[in-house]
Amino acid sequence: MSFTQLSAFVSVVLAATQLSNAVAVNKRVTCADGNVTANAVCCQLFPAVANLQQNLFDGAQCGEEAHSALRLSFHDAIGFSINGGKGGGADGSILAFNSTELQFHANSGIDDIVAGQFPVFQTTNLTAGDFVHLAAAVGTANCPGAPQLDFFFGRAPPVAPAPDLTVPEPTDSVDAIIARFADAGFAPDEIVALLSSHTVAAADVVDVTIPGTPFDSTPFTFDTQFFVETQLKGTLFPGNGSQSGEVLSPIPGEMRLQSDFELSRDSRTACLWQAMVNDQTRMTTQFKAAMHKLELLGQPDTLVDCSDVVPVPPALNAMSAALPAGFSAADVQGACQATPFPTLPTIPGPETSVPPVPGS
Ligand code: HEM
Ligand SMILES: *[C@@H]1O[C@H](CO)[C@@H](O)[C@H](O)[C@H]1NC(C)=O
Ligand SMILES: *[C@@H]1O[C@H](CO)[C@@H](O)[C@H](O)[C@H]1NC(C)=O
Ligand SMILES: *[C@@H]1O[C@H](CO)[C@@H](O)[C@H](O)[C@H]1NC(C)=O
Repeated sequence: MSFTQLSAFVSVVLAATQLSNAVAVNKRVTCADGNVTANAVCCQLFPAVANLQQNLFDGAQCGEEAHSALRLSFHDAIGFSINGGKGGGADGSILAFNSTELQFHANSGIDDIVAGQFPVFQTTNLTAGDFVHLAAAVGTANCPGAPQLDFFFGRAPPVAPAPDLTVPEPTDSVDAIIARFADAGFAPDEIVALLSSHTVAAADVVDVTIPGTPFDSTPFTFDTQFFVETQLKGTLFPGNGSQSGEVLSPIPGEMRLQSDFELSRDSRTACLWQAMVNDQTRMTTQFKAAMHKLELLGQPDTLVDCSDVVPVPPALNAMSAALPAGFSAADVQGACQATPFPTLPTIPGPETSVPPVPGS
């Protein structure tokens, strides 16, 4: 190659590099407050994120409000059917039409987070749908180990409440749960993925005598312990007992929902459930994808991708799943026919009780 040819080649490469940089730079917008985002319309969300962290999430905590904000986004969005006639999906109707939707039995316990969100919502310039689904993404980002959830912006105000009986109940059969999710467009693997949310969760109203009872031993971290601990035996499955949806967990202080018990052992979902154990990447990737679908239910494809306003979640300290102290492989009730339950270390020391989530 002669020098002329070489320099011509180099300038073509340089020009191409500059062009691709220019395209990339054009997608970056610096907002008036110095934040950088993909689209100028997203700039107004940075103050809303700060507002949520300060006034709803106690300064970026993965506490009761963050947990409840995630649950609220599900109860809002699932009011939708791909077959029509069931509400506007991820439209914020649960906030705007709270006097109707809070009457529904499946929304028991949702009143606290609606009451917590409403005054903050009123200080923003957001529609109810954008507010509810931004709050879920920001609250989840406060939980170590969680994926950075997507947030799409620009929902219209909700026009009507969702009808009753769209939200699954813990007393529902696996058949009924799979059918309801299918009606909203979700396959069984996506149900399991969405239920990763129960790793940052506790129940207040399933059993009102023990408010704040967590679903796993680590309700403040987005780890795979929920999928481990739901697989432990020693449960008293209430064949002739509880109508409440509560099944005893063998771990003191922990609750297991009847629906989670059944899904973890049903042939349609057991292997998907077990595959989450100690696979943080699988869990977070599939949860993020399913949440992306959830926040767009019933929404037009004109929403703007403002995912980069969502804070990056803190990393997990302990990346490895474990059996709780006092438990061994003999306590596991594997239910996946194809693959044995993975071998896990046991946390050293005597059996301990899981404390309730404060603020419940
Ligand atoms: C089969 C489907 C599901 C059933 C039957 C179910 C049921 C429940 C129940 C009964 C509670 C406890 C409520 C209370 O007593 O306070 C709860 C809590 C929770 N659920 Fe679910 N759930 C399901 C799916 C989901 C999904 C798809 C999400 C989110 C993507 C979710 C997120 C949560 C969260 C974060 C909490 C904890 C709330 C808190 O600690 O304040 N759930 N769920
Ligand atoms: C309020 O929302 C409207 C509609 O989305 C938007 O045009 C306007 O710029 C927003 N104002 C502020 C101060 O963010
Ligand atoms: C970005 O937005 C947040 C929230 O409004 C604000 O606290 C911060 O100062 C902004 N600027 C930068 C450079 O992060
Ligand atoms: C429910 O929504 C109304 C507006 O429709 C609001 O005034 C009220 O404060 C909300 N209730 C709760 C519990 O947030």
